[in-house]
Amino acid sequence: MSTNIVWHAQKIATKDHEMLNGHRGLCIWFTGLSGSGKSTLANAVEQSLYQMGVHTYLLDGDNVRHGLNGDLGFSDEDRKENVRRVAHVANLFVDAGVVAITALISPFHADREKARKIFAPGSFIEVYVECPLEECARRDPKGLYEKAKSGQIRDFTGISSPYEPPGDAEVTVNTATMSIETCVQYILNEVKTRLQI
Ligand code: PPS
Repeated sequence: MSTNIVWHAQKIATKDHEMLNGHRGLCIWFTGLSGSGKSTLANAVEQSLYQMGVHTYLLDGDNVRHGLNGDLGFSDEDRKENVRRVAHVANLFVDAGVVAITALISPFHADREKARKIFAPGSFIEVYVECPLEECARRDPKGLYEKAKSGQIRDFTGISSPYEPPGDAEVTVNTATMSIETCVQYILNEVKTRLQI
């Protein structure tokens, strides 16, 4: 925490933003291995919510690493900082009455729990995109598993860097056994309950 800084109460509060938007703010936090389907599901969920008139914003790991987190790599420390920054940005969106959707591997349980604690109670939905490592490596949509196995990429999640699956996610979907449509419906059911729409 920096020193000599004072919190200013803002005239327009979260509830004012929410009233204007016509729904509350919320964070939908996707976690899972590379190639598990996080971005695909996050995009599909966002499209559905958009069509329902819900204000959304998607923070995708690959994209955020082009700008805000362009200084971070894939060491444990950098992944922790990546998750911390994205959680705080997502919380700003939630404060603005928006449904923030994040799609980061976010491999460490402790970092996801720290992220959860940033949000007001009930404003955080963790979605575990489960998929066996063998299936993610078979899909290998970006050719990264191949590179990781041949040693061209260091610290690759699931190969040379750990992934700690959540035991307590609000929603778990398995993209190896469920269709994209079914996964999206599962997630939307929870989101709609929280949004009361
Ligand atoms: S993390 O662990 O949450 O900080 O990662 P994230 O910000 O989601 O970035 C993951 C995407 O970066 C690409 N990539 C790697 N992933 C894992 N390990 C290593 N070493 C790595 N290097 C590059 C990859 O495209 C990831 O995207 P997804 O969508 O998960 O496949």
